[in-house]
Amino acid sequence: MDKKRRQIVAGNWKMNLNQRQAIELTNDINEYISDHTIPEQLKVVICPSLPYVASCAGDVWEDTKPIFGVGGQNCHTESSGAYTGETAPEMLRDVGCEYVLIGHSERRKYFNESHAFLAEKVNKALDVGLIPIFCCGEALDIREAGTHEAHVATQLRESLFHLSKENFERVIIAYEPVWAIGTGKTATPEQAQSMHAAIRQLIEQQYGKDTANSVSILYGGSCKPANAASLFSQPDVDGGLIGGASLKAESFTKLIEIMMGEMGNL
Ligand code: 13P
Repeated sequence: MDKKRRQIVAGNWKMNLNQRQAIELTNDINEYISDHTIPEQLKVVICPSLPYVASCAGDVWEDTKPIFGVGGQNCHTESSGAYTGETAPEMLRDVGCEYVLIGHSERRKYFNESHAFLAEKVNKALDVGLIPIFCCGEALDIREAGTHEAHVATQLRESLFHLSKENFERVIIAYEPVWAIGTGKTATPEQAQSMHAAIRQLIEQQYGKDTANSVSILYGGSCKPANAASLFSQPDVDGGLIGGASLKAESFTKLIEIMMGEMGNL
């Protein structure tokens, strides 16, 4: 399939790995990217846990930099101040991050992050030059009630659709059905495609066709080498936000290889 949009294979390491493992994995990814001809519209992103994000970003090799980016898993809305335990987006930029995850379902669930707070995070991240990877997705009861599209539409409207067209075009969206995260239960390629197409349709209504066609929409939720080709080959799926399978070089680089295959670059 000839995919013109930026395609992305992103790893969300969550609260996993120790320092040695984080550095080793970063270097294994460097090596893989350095050894292969990776098309420019493919980006590989890792989001290490906070104590390691600076060293991982510093460890990205000079020659892999155009392809390989590092992101934070979260950021605050303020630049500095009395917010114990929080990280300003400027700090992520300062240590070499290009991306930041915003609105992951685990942040929404365990830290009660509201639509309005996420909208502020998106604004702030964009202000300092980070690319937000904005996560959306429904829980199982919502999927079973058949209101999943409306649920995701609300998430997008409340936290993203206030953006100018220019700013919106800098955002990456990750659709992560909560029932598929860490459960081994992947959305079928048809379920993923159908939601991604619905998201693109909403973007088109809000910002027009060109913007809708330019924004990358990633799938996340038990994505692994065994199912990635069928997901990545869907016309509106522009890559993956990977949890478990991003923690080992073998499976993560396999996902990059599968994506290159889908892009016709193998
Ligand atoms: P898993 O790939 O482990 O299901 O996690 C997906 C995820 O939440 C990525 O952000």
